[in-house]
Amino acid sequence: MKRTKIAELLTFEPQGQELLVKGWVRTFRNNQFLALNDGSTIKNLQVVVDFQRMDEAILKKLSTGACVSAKGTLVASPAKGQSAELKATELQLLGESDAEVFPLQPKKHSLEFLREIAHLRFRTNTFGAVFRVRHALAYAIHSFFHQRGFYYIHTPIITGSDAEGAGEMFQVTTLPLLQIPFNKENGQVNFQDDFFGKATNLTVSGQLEAELAALALGEVYTFGPTFRAENSNTSRHLAEFWMIEPEVAFNELDDNMDLAEDLLKYCIRFAMDHCADDLEFLQQRLVEEDKTKPQEERNAMPLLEKLRFVTDQPFARITYTEAVEILKNSNTNKKGKFKYPVEGWGIDLQSEHERYLVEKHFQKPVILTDYPAQIKAFYMRMNDDGKTVRAMDILFPGIGEIVGGSQREERLQHLQNRMKAMHIPEEELWWYLETRKFGTCPHSGFGLGFERLIMFVTGMGNVRDVIAFPRTPKNAEF
Ligand code: 4AD
Ligand code: MG
Repeated sequence: MKRTKIAELLTFEPQGQELLVKGWVRTFRNNQFLALNDGSTIKNLQVVVDFQRMDEAILKKLSTGACVSAKGTLVASPAKGQSAELKATELQLLGESDAEVFPLQPKKHSLEFLREIAHLRFRTNTFGAVFRVRHALAYAIHSFFHQRGFYYIHTPIITGSDAEGAGEMFQVTTLPLLQIPFNKENGQVNFQDDFFGKATNLTVSGQLEAELAALALGEVYTFGPTFRAENSNTSRHLAEFWMIEPEVAFNELDDNMDLAEDLLKYCIRFAMDHCADDLEFLQQRLVEEDKTKPQEERNAMPLLEKLRFVTDQPFARITYTEAVEILKNSNTNKKGKFKYPVEGWGIDLQSEHERYLVEKHFQKPVILTDYPAQIKAFYMRMNDDGKTVRAMDILFPGIGEIVGGSQREERLQHLQNRMKAMHIPEEELWWYLETRKFGTCPHSGFGLGFERLIMFVTGMGNVRDVIAFPRTPKNAEF
């Protein structure tokens, strides 16, 4: 007999049909009621066991965490909150789980504790929901771009360049660390002897390669892992995260903003349409969590209302210069309540400033554009004022920066000037510069941090809880 998934089974009208299910025991009550979950839905199936007819040795082993195969008939359930249950005729233990040592008990565990047992946290309601939503969002992204005629490009993970020019790279080498072949004359490492014959690193962004593709295929996107060796131990930074990077020929900054806003709204709506049960559960989880927090730290809105609120209205769009004015004149600033006071134009915005703009001032997502050139990457297009670049960051409530992008500098001379000013050697990016020599054109793109999107949609407060096995400073377990 073929296995039926619980998600499908729960859509059936119970008529005594014979079915086979397999899953993991969540609880076993009164030697009779088995709550089984197979990951296809947040809902458990109640399997009713006739203990007088079952082998006692098996009954003893139906403890939380065990894996079970159950055959039986689907009948209407007298119990509250479920329409059907399976009356078991045959039970088989596929994998036992010693209740004395199984770390997950049928009670609330802290997220911190669950991080330490990330190999088992998939088995909890919260992480089941988070990873189903993560899947739906990944699917939504491909669906969005495919519908619009974009091509999915796989950019390299090992590169020889630093796309952001920020120097936060993990080196890739096969050189024996303890006996690195130094060049005796200049004391530098001989990378000619290394695997690739040059210094290489894990990519921080697929943007530069995506630009090359966009200048031929028109509209492309990447969606892959990226790596940053920044030593930020925050609830929003990972050393390994996934990024979605569209790149579009002929798009200017306004088109770029429209594309990003459409993508975000599409993904959020997709999750609401396809993950209703999981989002309902996550919303309730937040309500419970809020009860343990002081009033001012609680969520202003229930999760689903917040998602609807974001999809149903246009994002605010202002320049960096306007944002600095708002921040400088804010009461928070005047009363000295920012940790980093806003004194004037040119400062890099801190997350407290971003959150003020989004959560206090506009109370909706904000797109900030035209940042000072000196705080942004070399590839952004210089404005006529010679001071600002066509950058855009999208700031989200509770998250801060979720998207970073720009119109690209398509003019060779301007690009060379910026690279020189920022000490980026032309030899390293000769291939990038060639696109500005051969058929250059205006083009734009952005990067959406996948984990930050998942945080927003699920309401999870820590980026470590939306990726299966987080990589952060001093942590690469599993
Ligand atoms: O702003 P970033 O650094 O932009 C780029 O990498 C551009 N090359 C993208 C492009 O234009 N194609 O990163 C883009 C987004 C951020 O807005 C944030 O959401 C996410 O990536 N991000 C991180 N997410 C988790 N952990 C980190 N350490 C992140 N760094 C950036
Ligand atoms: Mg950024």
